[in-house]
Amino acid sequence: MTEAILSIRDLKTHFQTQAAGFLGEKKVIKAVDGVSFDIAPGEVLSLVGESGCGKSTVGRTLTHLEKSTAGQALFDGQDILTLSPAQFRPLRRDIQMIFQDPFASLNPRLTIEQTLGEPLFIHGLAKNWAEARVLIAETLDLVGMAPEVMTRHPHEFSGGQRQRIGIARVMILKPKLVIADEAVSALDVSIQAQVLNLIKKLQRDSGISMLFISHDLGVVRHISDRVAVMYQGEIVEMGTKHEIFENPQHAYTRKLLSAIPRIKTRQVNA
Ligand SMILES: Nc1ncnc2c1ncn2[C@@H]1O[C@H](COP(=O)(O)OP(=O)(O)OP(=O)(O)O)[C@@H](O)[C@H]1O
Ligand SMILES: [Mg+2]
Repeated sequence: MTEAILSIRDLKTHFQTQAAGFLGEKKVIKAVDGVSFDIAPGEVLSLVGESGCGKSTVGRTLTHLEKSTAGQALFDGQDILTLSPAQFRPLRRDIQMIFQDPFASLNPRLTIEQTLGEPLFIHGLAKNWAEARVLIAETLDLVGMAPEVMTRHPHEFSGGQRQRIGIARVMILKPKLVIADEAVSALDVSIQAQVLNLIKKLQRDSGISMLFISHDLGVVRHISDRVAVMYQGEIVEMGTKHEIFENPQHAYTRKLLSAIPRIKTRQVNA
């Protein structure tokens, strides 16, 4: 395998709960408890598993939204878990997240132009609005939206269009790694397929690496190169998409596969 862009070893993220236990001790939730995987340049690795198994916590730890308890995460050769907020700031351009709820992640008071321009100025990718507007129009075109939408606000768009804007805000920075956490889960099934196809096309065309987090194996089947199956904070099985879907080894993977709603799988693959 070519050198990984992201290499995670024995990652643990534990949470201390506030509620005291029977003898007054604090309870520890081992949300992520010894996870290891690599992502190669241009590869899509999916993380699947039932609700509460720790998928989002992996993504949130990698982007410093949660603090790791132990382990390593080498990104481009440096351990990002040990970086201070100031040291991590320049990497925020390279490691971008797409969230489940596009509306919650878009500021309702900003126009689309402001929404997409803001990160360009933060990361020094545009010197003035004339430069920014060129990049914004190009990126809107990439996600299938007309330049006229620039003056409008998030509430004027449907869920699918808002997620396109959320994707544009990520792609405009030309990141190296995208962490997509349930990126299409909040959308209607018919819209899910369109947005999923868009994410896949942008990822292929740009060669970005992706950690694609989803509880939905039908969606995962469509987008992944490899799949890691998570159960109670650990990865129980990892393999190529073909291996996981055609020849699952672990009983838990088989259980997940048997629960895929057939109609949804067919629509997504159509
Ligand atoms: N900040 C936190 N403090 C305490 N416990 C947390 C925190 N964040 C997550 N947890 C717990 O860690 C476990 C893993 O949560 P996580 O959100 O990573 O699961 P998930 O696999 O993403 O689930 P879902 O499919 O529902 O999104 C859960 O038991 C959750 O309640
Ligand atoms: Mg989650």
